[in-house]
Amino acid sequence: MTKIIDGKLISGLIRDEIAVEVRKMMNKDLKVPHLAAVLVGDDPASHTYVGNKEKACQEVGFMSSIYKYPVNLSEAALLEIIDFLNNDPEIDGFIVQLPLPGHISVEKVLERIDPRKDVDGFHPINIGRMVQNMPCYLPATPFGIMQLIDRYEIETEGKHCVVLGRSQIVGTPVSLLMSRKHKPGNATVTICHSKTPNIKDICLTADILIVAMGQAGFVTADMVKDGAVVIDVGTNRIEAPEKKSGYRLVGDVLYEEVAPKCSFITPVPGGVGPMTIVSLLMNTLKAAKNEIYG
Ligand SMILES: NC(=O)c1ccc[n+]([C@@H]2O[C@H](COP(=O)([O-])OP(=O)(O)OC[C@H]3O[C@@H](n4cnc5c(N)ncnc54)[C@H](OP(=O)(O)O)[C@@H]3O)[C@@H](O)[C@H]2O)c1
Repeated sequence: MTKIIDGKLISGLIRDEIAVEVRKMMNKDLKVPHLAAVLVGDDPASHTYVGNKEKACQEVGFMSSIYKYPVNLSEAALLEIIDFLNNDPEIDGFIVQLPLPGHISVEKVLERIDPRKDVDGFHPINIGRMVQNMPCYLPATPFGIMQLIDRYEIETEGKHCVVLGRSQIVGTPVSLLMSRKHKPGNATVTICHSKTPNIKDICLTADILIVAMGQAGFVTADMVKDGAVVIDVGTNRIEAPEKKSGYRLVGDVLYEEVAPKCSFITPVPGGVGPMTIVSLLMNTLKAAKNEIYG
């Protein structure tokens, strides 16, 4: 029988665990964790994401600050703001919400963040430490996926894991995490992208299929072997006139036909999505406790 991996449930449990930790810190008169977010421009989706992060901080008892700037903020000014946050002892960790306006180099910005405060886990030092299996901040979405796999006690050792997509924020890091000498991990990993021929044949050999492409309904039942674990990261808006919003969210996997073949599957929404913010909270707690670089 297929088990549905409930990201809402697991993220709720983790939030409760974090809230308990925060209360313990308060009882010891320690400073509570403080997450800051830098938001440049007026992209509505970015405003929603940052708002959700602020709300999540409040729910667990963290301090949060949002630094909002107009779209014409210069790159030099943003780098100065980052320097300020790097040096502000009140702030344990911060993120610069992506995407940034085209005139600002994302690479320069990410490199300027102090790795000790890089709770998004995008700094090359944190990525390098992840590759070397050293303590580091893991990027939020892959961290959330690994938490789901861990908490549902899904066996990964010796399994063939196929990852569809090689982005810097999902596909590439999750491939590394699944292959490293660690539990969960120790899988044999194949990573596919837009230049990979025979994706269907490769998918059919997957014990664990992680899909992060941004292609609604790409994975169909004939691409999945019986009993596979399917993790769907895709979040795509499709028109739905019957909904008040006019759209609904679907994954990269054609859920209705794929789910019956799986041992485990994540729904969209309610699977990987809720884990991303909670992973950021986990990283911020680690930052406040100096667990990575202490
Ligand atoms: N739930 C969450 O919290 C969360 C977080 C992050 C992302 N997402 C969602 O996850 C999806 C992926 O995001 P992303 O940022 O990783 O996307 P991305 O940067 O656009 O990368 C997509 C990857 O998929 C590959 N790809 C796209 N179409 C393909 C095709 N037809 N055949 C084979 N490979 C193909 C691309 O190959 P190339 O490299 O060759 O171009 C690329 O590696 C999106 O729907 C996004 O909204 C969800």
